[in-house]
Amino acid sequence: MSEDMSEERFSADWLQQREPFDTAARNAAAERLQPGTQLAQQRPAPGKPWRVIDLACGTGANLRWLAPHLGGAQQWLVVDHDELLLQCWPERLGLAPQALDAPLHWSGAGFEAAIVRQPLDLAAHLETLPWRAAHLVTASALLDLVSGPWLRRLVAQAVGARVAMLFTLSVDGRHDWTPSDRLDATVGQLFGAHQRRDKGFGPALGAHAVPALRRALQGSGYRVFTAPSHWQIDGRDGEQAARLQAALVQGMANAAAEQDPAQAAAVAAWQQRRHAVCATARVCVGHVDVLALPPASR
Ligand SMILES: C[S@@+](CC[C@H](N)C(=O)[O-])C[C@H]1O[C@@H](n2cnc3c(N)ncnc32)[C@H](O)[C@@H]1O
Repeated sequence: MSEDMSEERFSADWLQQREPFDTAARNAAAERLQPGTQLAQQRPAPGKPWRVIDLACGTGANLRWLAPHLGGAQQWLVVDHDELLLQCWPERLGLAPQALDAPLHWSGAGFEAAIVRQPLDLAAHLETLPWRAAHLVTASALLDLVSGPWLRRLVAQAVGARVAMLFTLSVDGRHDWTPSDRLDATVGQLFGAHQRRDKGFGPALGAHAVPALRRALQGSGYRVFTAPSHWQIDGRDGEQAARLQAALVQGMANAAAEQDPAQAAAVAAWQQRRHAVCATARVCVGHVDVLALPPASR
């Protein structure tokens, strides 16, 4: 999800802060989706590498999670419009610093990934990617930022290439707080409306993104599987959780006040009350993962 961010920029710190919670959420979803098994029909011929495209890759959280699940030899093309984030990749993979145009090599138990980083504005240049060469196109925490027209462009490329898709961590609009506060619902609604503003792709789909993707892909004969990948943030689990909860509260309050300035004072009071309990309160932030398989193997 994209809580505390300005409209198009995501800080490396924010992506790092959320990664452990993303990982836990993705692990829970993967128990139901079984991406390693489900993607078996897409698996390249023996001796050939997986070819994967990661859209809006940030600092690489998606690859760090997915590469061990795919296993074997892999070639990744990872794209983002933010070069600063792409430059963080070597450090985040535990590699020596490398120029942006140098391929990276990252391996672990049962997998070996060659990685090419490409700066690219996906709003303008989605169609320039090597869709037909890919076995899998993936993204995490992207889908809720995009518009209906951009989603249709995405689906047109996927369907044309008959490529499998794994899109994780898209918001579903839920924020369940324990204990609750009288302003939770109001802030949640304002925040949801703010999420539908233009994030660089046209008016964003927000929580409607996954149902829209599912409909579009099923209409083209894809088999589409979804599973919840909720963030479970319990302030009692320690400082990391309390800090993420505080960042979430701040991001939601900023967005809600911007969405309806007339409610700014009430929202600020909500923020204060929520901050006071960050170390003891819990919140479940709803997300969904989507795995989509093309009609027939290539
Ligand atoms: C919420 S972050 C997710 C990053 C990463 N996938 C992860 O899970 O950590 C959204 C990403 O979308 C990228 N992004 C936003 N608009 C973009 C665009 N028009 N073209 C390419 N990347 C874009 C941002 O730079 C950011 O890295």
